[in-house]
Amino acid sequence: MCGIVGYIGNKKAAPILLEGLSALEYRGYDSAGIAVLENNKIITKKDKGRVSNLASIVTPCNLKGSIGIAHTRWATHGIPSMENSHPHLDNSSSFGVVHNGIIENYNDIKLFLIENGYNFLSQTDTEVIPNLIHYHFKNTVSNYQDKFLASVKSAVSELKGSYAIEVISPLFPDKIIVVRKDSPLVIGIANGENYIASDIPAILPYTKNFYFLDDNEFAVISKNTVKFYDNNLLEHKKETKLINWDASSAGKNGYDDYMLKEIYEQPDVIAETIKTRFSMPNNNYFDNLDFSKEYLESLNNIYIVACGTAMHAGLVGKNVIENLCRIPVEVDIASEFRYRNPIVNDKTLCIYISQSGETADTIAALKLAKSKGAKTLAISNVFGSSITREADYTIYTHAGPEIAVASTKAYSAQVILITIFAMYLAEVLGTISSEDISKLKLEITELPKKLETILNDTTQIKKFAKIVCTEKDMFFLGRNIDYCTALEGSLKLKEISYIHSEAYASGELKHGPIALIENGITVIGIITNPELVEKSLSNIQEVITRGAKTLVITNQSLPNNNIDNIIKIPETHPLLAPILSIIPLQLLSYYIAKSKELDVDKPRNLAKSVTVE
Ligand code: AGP
Repeated sequence: MCGIVGYIGNKKAAPILLEGLSALEYRGYDSAGIAVLENNKIITKKDKGRVSNLASIVTPCNLKGSIGIAHTRWATHGIPSMENSHPHLDNSSSFGVVHNGIIENYNDIKLFLIENGYNFLSQTDTEVIPNLIHYHFKNTVSNYQDKFLASVKSAVSELKGSYAIEVISPLFPDKIIVVRKDSPLVIGIANGENYIASDIPAILPYTKNFYFLDDNEFAVISKNTVKFYDNNLLEHKKETKLINWDASSAGKNGYDDYMLKEIYEQPDVIAETIKTRFSMPNNNYFDNLDFSKEYLESLNNIYIVACGTAMHAGLVGKNVIENLCRIPVEVDIASEFRYRNPIVNDKTLCIYISQSGETADTIAALKLAKSKGAKTLAISNVFGSSITREADYTIYTHAGPEIAVASTKAYSAQVILITIFAMYLAEVLGTISSEDISKLKLEITELPKKLETILNDTTQIKKFAKIVCTEKDMFFLGRNIDYCTALEGSLKLKEISYIHSEAYASGELKHGPIALIENGITVIGIITNPELVEKSLSNIQEVITRGAKTLVITNQSLPNNNIDNIIKIPETHPLLAPILSIIPLQLLSYYIAKSKELDVDKPRNLAKSVTVE
């Protein structure tokens, strides 16, 4: 939520900042701004609206400064407006700040600063930061060698909440200071220039060498050096990490939208995950996991905790782990888990799934389980992300950068990875025969080809999307593992096409929601488990009888029985079916949103990485 970028070097900062903001726009897009140091002043350009709007303001100004900070906003405090856009300056224009996160005690700080003669121009929480830095610069900091850093540190020690902050000052025209707590920040290293961003893709065109800033860590960045300081301002060294993502993987590669590109990347993403895991020495799948049979047998249960789409991947994971390992698995929404005093102890394994690795609720839920003595395992797509640094163990999905706000390829990667993790557990526990493992492995290796088959023929989906794009409500039905797909399909539809939908376990419909089924309403059924075909078909018949228009996604040979549309997908092992059955639903949401001429990649009110509660 909110994206920040920074540049210090010899080039003009403004175009680099604008490019970085465009790449980060998925983090928030209701207003944007930049500030550069020029002629001993902070020049600020900002407005509500998209980065393209900001570019139309900035580009004609031909700003020459080679040090700058930038921000794309997802509003929390104060409506999207020019005044509330970042960067914010202190009253004397000595300090310019961009901020990602929330300052929870900003009201108290604001009152204190007002009492001390400061004025405020915005409704934001952020505006207290530059003024507080200024206050400490003038009043409290005296005997430190680096007054700039010491003032930032004094201000930051008063902040409660989450923040990734960049600060510039014309008084110190050769450095940018950054600090973070519970909001992401990376520093990219190049020759004679350095880059800062909330997320790797924003600066991937310039470097593959990154520092990942830790919580409560400060960095003083000049064009040739980056110096790190702890909370007591003691300097320390830090290692860079090489990120081997291809810069073009963060582009659209000829597709109209990132989402479509990412949907079509799924065969490769799955193939890459399978290749990485199945080529480990000793059939081990995960060289960094060392769960013993004794430990796994001692577990009372496993929790899978996540939000949104990642939580749906967790629901599939529950089905697979319970089937293969016979360990009870509970899936919980991170924002619920953290406040419901869950029963967690050293006999619980807690798994946290997060594409971004920065979701505030998921990270808090992880910290909670750790404090109660549970072992924690993170599944993330972003190397070095906060969740991976908190968890005892991490296994990575290799989905590459996912830019579209609606998650598609990261979901598939999470599902396949947790499936392979379940196989790993089952083998350690001895709950699966070698014959069954071989069968499952064979089916897994065939998934990429089967995904391509679905993606190669989208005629039926496009046609159906045109028919239903004007609807107000839809229902998704599925049993067991297909119910997980129904939930995810329904979420995709809501997110990008703004059509209200409900997902129900097929058998549950008759316990209430069937009252909403009336003539012409669309019901989408997912039927992939051969053992549940008849029961699922009966539920579809119940809605057909009440006038519903139906689409069924299946890998079974179904009698037509008045179903309006049947989309056939390839057969696979029942536990792997979600990886195939979600594809038509992702495409359906995409094409409905396109028919409605909506911004598929940046749906209203959403942000890619939800770093606030
Ligand atoms: C997915 O389409 C959503 N945008 C959202 O539900 C997302 O999955 C959720 O916010 C969790 O994000 P994470 O995986 O980065 O933690």
